[in-house]
Amino acid sequence: MTEQSAAPHNLPPAPTPSPHMPASNGDPFSREWIARLPLSDAELCRSAPAVWLEKYGCVATGRHDIVRAILPDWRRFTSTAKPCDDPFSLVPPVLVTEDPPEHTEVRKALMPFFAPTALAQYNAAFAQEADRVVTEALDRGSVDVVTDIAARFVLKVFPDMLGLHDEGRKLILDFGDAAFNTVGPINEIFQTSFERAAPAFAWIEQHTTRDAVRPGGLASRILDLGSDGTIAMERAELLVRATIAAGFDTTVLVIANAIGALLAFPEQWDRLRADPQLARGLLEETLRYDPPARVQGRTATEDCEISGVQFRRGDPVALFLTAAGRDPIKWDEPDRFDITRKGANLGFGAGIHLCLGQALARMEFSAIIDAILRHVAVIEPAGEGLRFINNAAVGWAHLPIRLKPV
Ligand code: HEM
Repeated sequence: MTEQSAAPHNLPPAPTPSPHMPASNGDPFSREWIARLPLSDAELCRSAPAVWLEKYGCVATGRHDIVRAILPDWRRFTSTAKPCDDPFSLVPPVLVTEDPPEHTEVRKALMPFFAPTALAQYNAAFAQEADRVVTEALDRGSVDVVTDIAARFVLKVFPDMLGLHDEGRKLILDFGDAAFNTVGPINEIFQTSFERAAPAFAWIEQHTTRDAVRPGGLASRILDLGSDGTIAMERAELLVRATIAAGFDTTVLVIANAIGALLAFPEQWDRLRADPQLARGLLEETLRYDPPARVQGRTATEDCEISGVQFRRGDPVALFLTAAGRDPIKWDEPDRFDITRKGANLGFGAGIHLCLGQALARMEFSAIIDAILRHVAVIEPAGEGLRFINNAAVGWAHLPIRLKPV
């Protein structure tokens, strides 16, 4: 736990095992476990409403109703201290690591940039780029949906919007990979990505300064919040990095995870083709079935009970969105992918920390799916996919597909 994060509530050091729940000696941050996500998380969390993770000294829960109750309850579950907190965290210490009033100040300043009305100006550019990426993929016939479609698209439209330098953009994904890894423990997965990300850290350092970003771009406008005194300059700089850390790998993954689910449930592709309006349902169902953001951390600030589970003041709590999406108490046949399913999922979180970039992620997703629906008649698997091994970001690292045009 970092000094900074523990201070606001003077929380005690990592607590002793909770007597209020069964303990597990499993390791949700091992490679074997992560390769089986989201089912491995779901199996752990179906075993009890909450489980004490012995290896990490924290509560794990993936019951939809408990996660839904805790996410917005910032008074009793602070975001300033999280399970696996450590001084090496690469998550920029702003916004997602804060409670009100600090959180409110930056969230309010940043919100207008990410409102659907403000983003509408980018629609045409997104549609044009999505068309280009999908038609090029069709020309090739066999492609990797992660690298050749999702990453290609996101690494063009979002950095353009931010006003980032063209050269070296691919490195942003390594930065995001390392940042999401620090949401979990400092394990071998983190170490490997941290070493790989060294050039990415240098790139981010060099290309997010006032002189490096394009005037008028989103990054420049966020930095303006610092120069005009709306927020401290240091916080404005952190916000640019927080936006980059949060906004790339997640969006690439959600596109790839949607296609992965359509391959596993081909009748859903037929339904989508028959009714392209279901693209929205495709996103919602992907956020439930294979959500890119795996786990959110909080720490209890007082003794309390949520849905019959006792939390003690100081308990670090890992909220598994992966498991909440597969909770059989909330969802009928949770392991079946159904783009017409009703019900609100937690893939973008809930409450004051609800994903700030969700309108942007929705726009990117819909641009690429619309282009696929316009140009592609058949999507087939073209080999074994490989899951992304990351402590907190979930989905496909590689997914070979074959496309046939309409
Ligand atoms: C499908 C893609 C995405 C998913 C699944 C996702 C998921 C999430 C989740 C679950 C949270 C809540 C964190 C918490 O409760 O502690 C969150 C917060 C956040 N997301 Fe996203 N996100 C996505 C895309 C983006 C994009 C494109 C951006 C770019 C701007 C972004 C920026 C943020 C920020 C800045 C926060 C912190 C908000 C706050 O603390 O008030 N996200 N996201």
